[in-house]
Amino acid sequence: MSKGYVIVLILAALAMAGCVSSSRFDELFQPSWAMDHFTYEGEVLRMKLDNYSGAGFSSKRKYMFGKVTVHIKLVEGDSAGTVTAFYMASEGPNHNEFDFEFLGNTTGEPYLVQTNVYVNGVGNREQRLNLWFDPTKDFHSYSLLWNQRQVVFLVDETPVRVHSNLEHKGIPFPKDQAMGVYSSIWNADDWATQGGRVKTDWSHAPFTASYTGFEIDGCECPDTVAAADNLKRCSSGAEKRYWWDEPTVSELNLHQSHQLIWVRANHMVYDYCSDTARFPSAPIECQHHRH
Ligand SMILES: *[C@@H]1O[C@H](CO)[C@@H](O)[C@H](O)[C@H]1NC(C)=O
Ligand SMILES: *[C@@H]1O[C@H](CO)[C@@H](O)[C@H](O)[C@H]1NC(C)=O
Repeated sequence: MSKGYVIVLILAALAMAGCVSSSRFDELFQPSWAMDHFTYEGEVLRMKLDNYSGAGFSSKRKYMFGKVTVHIKLVEGDSAGTVTAFYMASEGPNHNEFDFEFLGNTTGEPYLVQTNVYVNGVGNREQRLNLWFDPTKDFHSYSLLWNQRQVVFLVDETPVRVHSNLEHKGIPFPKDQAMGVYSSIWNADDWATQGGRVKTDWSHAPFTASYTGFEIDGCECPDTVAAADNLKRCSSGAEKRYWWDEPTVSELNLHQSHQLIWVRANHMVYDYCSDTARFPSAPIECQHHRH
């Protein structure tokens, strides 16, 4: 038997035992808690929630602008009470955050996707949609595109939300703080499913979310660099052009605008901008946002 063949056999055995970690994951991310709730199978990472713990991972580095994508297959069967989140966030009391939260449901009932945007520590910008596919059957891509003009939430490359830069109207836009990339699964049965009426059924645990296809294409920001310097470093100038500053990504193209209109007409079930009970006068950005 050749030496190479033996090594291949050993690697195959390790992969079957779930010991070989996904290389792309390891390069970009690390588990942040409950290491024993992670398993790796080739390029697929699984994270579970049971009655002892949820689990989460975070990017090793912080970024400004660019695009992050993960492919997720959400908890199959009964996922009521569970929330799986994928988000970017900066640190500190005035943090910015772009959230995807996947709210589980009882078997056969649809997941809801809640998105939110925090600017300078203030959120309360929830939108909710259902999906045009069953997110528990296959992997689908979920992306955040961020530049100085807009934040776009994408599902399988279809925009489902745009948060535009309206600084010219005096509305703050999140562009001065580097952000980490995070995901987690936890028990939120006090609010997540059907308004908290359906509780997590622990006899169906563990609840497992699967991940693959980790991609981060952004401007890396070392902690040692001051925020203002990072903004400068990560912005296009005379010497360098970054793809995220190109006009093609500074706003949705016509096709994407039509996709967003379709999503909003057919899949949106809640928009904070139209919640007059909660906001008697519409939040200021809602008065300007085209969407
Ligand atoms: C968790 O669930 C297992 C299996 O159902 C059970 O044996 C155990 O007692 C539970 N532990 C806690 C902390 O509730
Ligand atoms: C769960 O299913 C019910 C019934 O179809 C639906 O009203 C609800 O929006 C779904 N999602 C969540 C997270 O409650």
